[in-house]
Amino acid sequence: MREGVSRLQLTAFRSYKNLDLKLDPRPVVLSGVNGAGKTNILEALSFLAPGRGLRKSQLLDISHKDNGQSPLQHWAVSATVFSSLGERQIGTGLEYGPSKERRVIKIEGEYAKNQSSLNKELYVSWLTPQMDRLFMEGAKERRRFLDRLVYGLDAGHAERVARYDFFTRERLKVLMQPKPDPQWLSTLEEKMAAEAIAIVDARVNFLHFLSEAKNQSFGNFPKAQLSLKSNLAEKLQSFPALHVEEDLKEELHQTRTVDREVGRTSVGAHKDDLSVFFVDKGLHAEQCSTGEQKAMLLSIIMAAARIQSTINPGAALLLLDEVVAHLDESRRQALFEEILNLNIQAWMTGTDADLFKNLDEKVQHFQVKNAIVRAIV
Ligand SMILES: Nc1ncnc2c1ncn2[C@@H]1O[C@H](COP(=O)(O)OP(=O)(O)OP(=O)(O)O)[C@@H](O)[C@H]1O
Ligand SMILES: [Mg+2]
Repeated sequence: MREGVSRLQLTAFRSYKNLDLKLDPRPVVLSGVNGAGKTNILEALSFLAPGRGLRKSQLLDISHKDNGQSPLQHWAVSATVFSSLGERQIGTGLEYGPSKERRVIKIEGEYAKNQSSLNKELYVSWLTPQMDRLFMEGAKERRRFLDRLVYGLDAGHAERVARYDFFTRERLKVLMQPKPDPQWLSTLEEKMAAEAIAIVDARVNFLHFLSEAKNQSFGNFPKAQLSLKSNLAEKLQSFPALHVEEDLKEELHQTRTVDREVGRTSVGAHKDDLSVFFVDKGLHAEQCSTGEQKAMLLSIIMAAARIQSTINPGAALLLLDEVVAHLDESRRQALFEEILNLNIQAWMTGTDADLFKNLDEKVQHFQVKNAIVRAIV
C-alpha cells in the first residue's frame, strides 16, 4: 500500500480562488492549455514538503489576485493523505504573525512546530522545466536538490539543514556588528560545526544507499553516478567525526575576519556540491544533451522514490511538470511503467492530452481550463 492525496483543497492559491479535488490513489494527469493552472496545482502540492515550493516564490506573491488587485486573503493548501499510517489531514498556508506574515503548518488540525514535521507525513519530489539547468547552474541548487532527496530517507535532515542555515545567518549578523561578541560567535560556530557534520554524513549515507540500490535506472534511462564534492566528506573518510567537527570549529574561528570583510561564510556544509556522471557515455552531466540531462534527473528521482518506498511507510508524491512531452516515445512508456510499478501517485502535466492516452484507466485524468478542474471520464 502506498496511496497518496485523496483530497486537495486550495484557497486563494494563485489562479485558484477555491479548488476542491477528490482523488483516488492512481497517478494524476492534468492537461490544458498554457496558463490554465496546471503548474499552480503542482506548486500547491510542493508546499506539503518543507521549503519554498517548486517555484521558490515569495509567499505573498502566491495569494490569489483578482485582475491584478492586491491579495484577497491569505492562501492555504489542505490535503487528506492516505497511506499505511492511515488517513491524515495536513495543511499549510500564510497567516499573520506578530510582526509579519509567516507560513504555518497544520497536521491533524494542530499547528506543527516546524516545516520538517511534513516529512513524517508525506514524501514529495519534483521535476520542473526550471530544473533543466540544474547541472549548468551554481552548486546551491544542486545541493538543495540533493538535500530534498535526503529528506525522503532521513526525516530529520530538513530540520538539521534549517538549523545550520539559521546559525550561519546568525554568525554573519554578529560578525557585521561594530563589536562582535567573541563568546557568542564561538557558541554559534560550535553549533554550526555540529550540524554541518551531521548534514554531510546524511548526504554521504544517502548517496551510498543510492549507489548500492539494485535498480539505479529503469527502461532505457541513463544510469547516473552521483558523488559529493565536499571537503568535509573527504575528511570524514580519514578522521573521526569529532575530530572533523573540532577542525571546522577552529576554521570558522580563523575565518572570522575574512568572512566579516566579504559578508559570506568561507567554510562549512554549504560548500558541498553534487557531481553527476553519465556512466554509459563516460561524461559529466553538464556535457550531456538537454534531453539526456532530463532523463538523468528522472533516473535519480525515481531511484530515490524506490529507495524511499522500502524504508518509509508514508505516502509519496512525484510531481512531473511538463516532463512527459520532452521524452521520446520509448522513454515515455518506460516512465509510465515505472510509475505504475512503484505504485506512486505521480502528478503529470502536459498541454497535449494525447500523450497520456495509452494510460487509459490506469490514471485519473483531469482537464484544467481557466482554473477550473474537470475529471475526464
Ligand atoms: N497570485 C496569483 N493570482 C492570480 N493568478 C495568478 C497568480 N499567480 C499566477 N497566476 C496565474 O496563474 C495562471 C496559471 O498558471 P500555471 O503556471 O498554473 O499555468 P499552466 O497551466 O501550468 O501553463 P503552462 O502550460 O504555460 O505551463 C497564469 O495565467 C498566471 O498568471
Ligand atoms: Mg505550467
